[in-house]
Amino acid sequence: MTKAHIRPAQPGDKAQILAFCQHTWDDEADYIPTVWDLWLADPAGHILVADINGQPVGMTRLVQLSDTEGWWEGLRVDRAFRRRGIGSRLTQTALDLGHSLGLTTLRTCINVTNTSMHPFVQHQGFSPLGDYAIYHAASENAPTALRLLEKDDCDRAWAAINRFVEQERDLLFVVRGAKWQALTSAHLAQRLGQSWVWGCFEGDTLVGLFIRSPMENPDGTLWTGWLGGTAAGVQAALHGLCRVAHSAGFRAIGGFLPQGTLATVLKTIGHECSDTSVYRLYEKRL
Ligand SMILES: CC(C)(COP(=O)(O)OP(=O)(O)OC[C@H]1O[C@@H](n2cnc3c(N)ncnc32)[C@H](O)[C@@H]1OP(=O)(O)O)[C@@H](O)C(=O)NCCC(=O)NCCS
Repeated sequence: MTKAHIRPAQPGDKAQILAFCQHTWDDEADYIPTVWDLWLADPAGHILVADINGQPVGMTRLVQLSDTEGWWEGLRVDRAFRRRGIGSRLTQTALDLGHSLGLTTLRTCINVTNTSMHPFVQHQGFSPLGDYAIYHAASENAPTALRLLEKDDCDRAWAAINRFVEQERDLLFVVRGAKWQALTSAHLAQRLGQSWVWGCFEGDTLVGLFIRSPMENPDGTLWTGWLGGTAAGVQAALHGLCRVAHSAGFRAIGGFLPQGTLATVLKTIGHECSDTSVYRLYEKRL
């Protein structure tokens, strides 16, 4: 059998790639058709295609999120061509590309139910950082205790965030819908400038903080980039957010939250935290 050739995606690949992505999973639809045009148009992203005699039979994507961080996603191989090493070659090419772009950290996430992929990514040198569950709650028409923070609040907000984090992975921000990236004071300043940061206070002390994230495919949900605080602060922030979301015209709030303490808080206040949409975040140093 002819060996697949790995090359950058071209606009003409769309029909064949979306055709085999109809059959990615046995029981659910693939999201690739909803993002293909956005992905192809994004100058920060690189879609790689596995091509056999001009026929696209696989794809993957690497996105540059900062000077040093990248996100690897969307690995797909046409069912008719699986278990022939194509997925591994696409992955290796994506890793090599990340290296040539000067990236030092790559991350990816895999649904915990995708059992064959966990050994696959670990074999590629990725280590698990933790599990994150998708949560949703409807927006709510009521006054909120949350306060919109401003640029002047940057130093105290950054100090509060660093007080709230317990481990390095807690300082990751979910960008563009579902890609994890290190949260820095510069990002915080940028989000404050966008009026995307809210805090809740006990007296003058910040006890909870929420940073909104941009969504790749906006769907009327106010999406969580980062959420943290004391137990009471997080609870107050989540309640308050449903109200902020309503006044800003969103139908719902949502996001990925680390399983564990935050999931317990969500259940306590009656927010839905999915047991099935749980993703394991992985990281690899290049
Ligand atoms: C995951 C996927 C891209 C793998 O593509 P592939 O071309 O078949 O992968 P490879 O042939 O390079 O497989 C490499 C190794 O991964 C493991 N592997 C791959 N698919 C597997 C499966 N279905 N079950 C168990 N192990 C599997 C095996 O160890 C395999 O080596 P082997 O064939 O020598 O045993 C493909 O199955 C696919 O498109 N799946 C659906 C989408 C998906 O799960 N994407 C990744 C998460 S978003």
